[in-house]
Amino acid sequence: MSVTPGSKRVSVPALARRKGGEPLVCLTAHSTPVAKLIDPHVDMILVGDSLGMVVYGFESTLPVTLDMMIAHGAAVCRGSSRACVIVDMPFASYQESPQQAFRNAARVMAETGCAAVKLEGGAEMAETVAFLTARGVPVMGHVGLTPQSVNALGGFRTRGRTEAEGDAILADARAIAEAGAFSIVVEGVVEPLADRITAAVPVPTIGIGASLGCDGQVLVTDDLLGLFSDFTPKFVRRYAQLGGQISEAAACFADDVRNRRFPGPENVFAPAKPKPALEPAGD
Ligand code: KIV
Repeated sequence: MSVTPGSKRVSVPALARRKGGEPLVCLTAHSTPVAKLIDPHVDMILVGDSLGMVVYGFESTLPVTLDMMIAHGAAVCRGSSRACVIVDMPFASYQESPQQAFRNAARVMAETGCAAVKLEGGAEMAETVAFLTARGVPVMGHVGLTPQSVNALGGFRTRGRTEAEGDAILADARAIAEAGAFSIVVEGVVEPLADRITAAVPVPTIGIGASLGCDGQVLVTDDLLGLFSDFTPKFVRRYAQLGGQISEAAACFADDVRNRRFPGPENVFAPAKPKPALEPAGD
């Protein structure tokens, strides 16, 4: 899809119609400046709860709160004018009941201006997905490796290696699609399973650590830029090494300050020039 500056925002139905078409492009953003930079190039911006790890330094996404997601979601919406912005529902903000999910999703949509929310889970979340979509909240699903279940899953391991686990994940994706999700993130599953899911559901699948055969791909922008260096998952391709550049820039600044090379003459302000004396009035 070509992207023209000033063109209108990509809508949820427009995304859903892209099943089987040109691959959908999704990146995460958590701030206004990053949203502005990526907005012209992507179909979707995901305000992912991965921000708990890449921005806040938590070991998992579990400590992320609804207020954090709303603050970052609103910042991203301020920086985006054409991509469809989707905000993650954080852990414990939707699992209790469809009513709890609706209350919190409505807050996210009203207070951020996003077009849709994403929530993790399979068949057990189908009732909630149906409840939300019937009430005007578009939902993106998320199956396979679902980071909010890291404790129940026993770590961030690839899923669907056994036939039984693969069948269960496929059933999860089907249940979420039937419940009305407009798209489904498929994360951290073996490639053939991602392909089976993509063939089985009528909505676009967005892969991360999944398959080239998915209807679209998503990466965490901090990973793609080389900003998050604690570890690099196999499924990440680094397109820049900004971490190294930031560290080098900080070192150069420190060196300039310590050696009295900063600020330079171009960085300081001259005092106001004295006003010329008035000519004495002529006779
Ligand atoms: O939180 C996130 O950034 C995500 C993506 C990894 C899909 O859910």
